[in-house]
Amino acid sequence: MANSASGESMIERVVRVLDTFGADRTVQTASDIGRRAGLPSATAHRLVDELVRAGMLERDEEHRVRLGLRLWELALRGSTALRLRQAALPHMEAVQAELREHTQLAVLERDEALFLERLSHPDAVSNITRVAGRLPLHASSSGLVLLAHADPALRERVLAGPLGAVGPGTITDARALRRALTEIRRTGEVVARGSIEAVSTGVAVPIRDAGEVVAALSVVLPREVDPQPALTQLQAAARAIEAELRRTRP
Ligand code: PHB
Repeated sequence: MANSASGESMIERVVRVLDTFGADRTVQTASDIGRRAGLPSATAHRLVDELVRAGMLERDEEHRVRLGLRLWELALRGSTALRLRQAALPHMEAVQAELREHTQLAVLERDEALFLERLSHPDAVSNITRVAGRLPLHASSSGLVLLAHADPALRERVLAGPLGAVGPGTITDARALRRALTEIRRTGEVVARGSIEAVSTGVAVPIRDAGEVVAALSVVLPREVDPQPALTQLQAAARAIEAELRRTRP
């Protein structure tokens, strides 16, 4: 692989280009990309041109680029995320129809909760989650489920902080968080009041595949709503999703 003068491989530079795209930064010029990726302008323009030709990036009329549909297609093909989403979707729809609140599916990805799916309802409470968006493990209900069952090294890394406050109810004290994680493993559920936003409560349960927690299923409720009916629904859905995962195990 041809390396740049800095010793960086072509793949590392391409990854740096793709990494400049974020949930809030979906369209950029090649110059912006170069600046954010720390690449010389000529290099950035050349890489962007090549990625556009390959369909990994798409260019609009104003010559700005976004992530390409081809990248989405390749990423989903045969992915474990897609298998999980497909197993979960009918059961998420049932939960959502019953509760008429946001229903979400998240997995652990590099020390954060990454959301694979979100079903909403027009009358549901405010919700900051987005599909392909991320939330901190210690702050979101899904993240807390995933953190409680993560390998100990990851758990210690998160517990070492910083544990930033996202909402007024976010657990920012490491000892309190450690206690909460023990309790989550014991009860198999999370009720996170005001952890992301003052107005809402996140409730979440784990989903297991081959004995390992692979995802969290959650609902965002208005703060004043009793979480118990949602937890009952979520636990039933989680069992059904686990049965579907057993049935479709590759
Ligand atoms: C949660 O998972 O706890 C959560 C997520 C998004 C919100 C509120 C709560 O807007």
